[in-house]
This record gives sequence, structure tokens and C-alpha cells, in this order.
Amino acid sequence: MESYRLKNGNKMIIRGATAADAEEMLNYLEQVGGESDFLTFGPGEIKMTLEDERSFLNSISKADNKLFIVAVVADKIIGNLSYTGGMRPRVRHTGEFGVSVLKEYWGQGVGKILIQYLIAWSKASGTVRKINLRVRSDNTAGIYLYEALGFVEEGRQSREFCINGIFYDSIIMGLEID
Ligand SMILES: CC(C)(COP(=O)(O)OP(=O)(O)OC[C@H]1O[C@@H](n2cnc3c(N)ncnc32)[C@H](O)[C@@H]1OP(=O)(O)O)[C@@H](O)C(=O)NCCC(=O)NCCS
Repeated sequence: MESYRLKNGNKMIIRGATAADAEEMLNYLEQVGGESDFLTFGPGEIKMTLEDERSFLNSISKADNKLFIVAVVADKIIGNLSYTGGMRPRVRHTGEFGVSVLKEYWGQGVGKILIQYLIAWSKASGTVRKINLRVRSDNTAGIYLYEALGFVEEGRQSREFCINGIFYDSIIMGLEID
């Protein structure tokens, strides 16, 4: 568990999620899905049951190339980052992450701290050698943040999102870990 101070003075901790967080995590995802159109899910679209979420969180803590962390302020989950590496030997060293922060906490440094945590964890892991992400091409705040942390654009995929009948491209970005 690591402790941080946000720009507004709030104390925040970053810790690995456990099965005990399952219910709060599902509520968090429901809320964050309704607050941003830049995620791959909207409200009501996470179909995992409490049991599914519990066993998912249990499986993460047993893997050396998976990370699922939460940002907590005053005992409440306000941000999350999830990284999953490949299953087979040839792709175990590479993986993709997703990050989100509750709208009320945007611009406080939470996203940056979560990704810096992922980078430090990756460097210490001895396993992770490449971190990838996909971001909607019009998510300027996200792209700004990723570039500031050293991620570079590696490609673009058309029609990655379809929201209310409108397609959006995604940009593929990556960071090599040495
Ligand atoms: C993208 C997201 C994770 C960023 O998290 P955050 O906690 O708001 O970002 P931070 O406060 O850590 O900001 C990091 C940097 O980005 C800048 N930034 C934040 N919001 C910005 C905006 N709307 N426009 C431009 N820059 C912005 C900050 O100024 C900061 O720069 P600095 O370190 O030089 O001061 C968060 O806004 C979010 O959850 N958005 C909705 C979901 C989403 O887009 N997820 C990513 C999908 S790929």
C-alpha cells in the first residue's frame, strides 16, 4: 500500500484490490461507466455477478503479469487501473491496461499516480517488458497524460468504438520497459 497527497490536499492510497472489494468495484464501474464515453463500457454494461468479480479479483492476485489496483480516498474507491499480460510464454512479457477515475476526482493527479505505479511495478516485476493501451482518438486528456509518461503512438484502429451509432477510432500507444 502506498500513500499520496492529491492536488486538493486529500490523502489517497493505492493498493491491490482483493475479493473483499468486489461489490464496491462493481458499483464503481457502474458509476464511472456513466460518467465518461471514453471507456469501453457504459452504465449497465458490466454484466459480471458478484461471484464473477470475486473470482476475477482472486485470480489477479495469483498472477505475476497482472495488476489490478484501486485508488482510495476516505475509504472509498475513486480510481482503478487494470493491466493484463499475455498467457503464453511468447507473450507473457506484454500486456494492455485500462485506467479510470471518478469524475469528481479528475485533474487531481490520480490517473498519473496510477500509471506511474504500473510503470514502477512493471520495472520491478522482471516479467513485464512492454505496456500497451488503446485510447479513443478524441480523448485529448488521456493522450496528453500517456505522452507525458513516455507512451508513444504505435498505430490507429478505425471503428474501435460505436456509441449511439457513431464510430470512433482508437490510437494504440506503448511503452517499452527496460
Ligand atoms: C483520463 C483520466 C484517467 C485521467 O485521470 P486524471 O486523474 O483526471 O488525470 P491527472 O489529474 O492525473 O492528470 C494528468 C495530467 O493530465 C492533465 N489533464 C487532466 N485533464 C486534462 C484535460 N481535460 N485536458 C488537458 N489536460 C488534462 C493534467 O493537467 C495533468 O498534467 P500535469 O501532470 O502536467 O499537471 C481520467 O480523466 C478519466 O478517468 N477519464 C475518463 C475515462 C478515461 O478516459 N479513461 C482512459 C481511457 S483510455
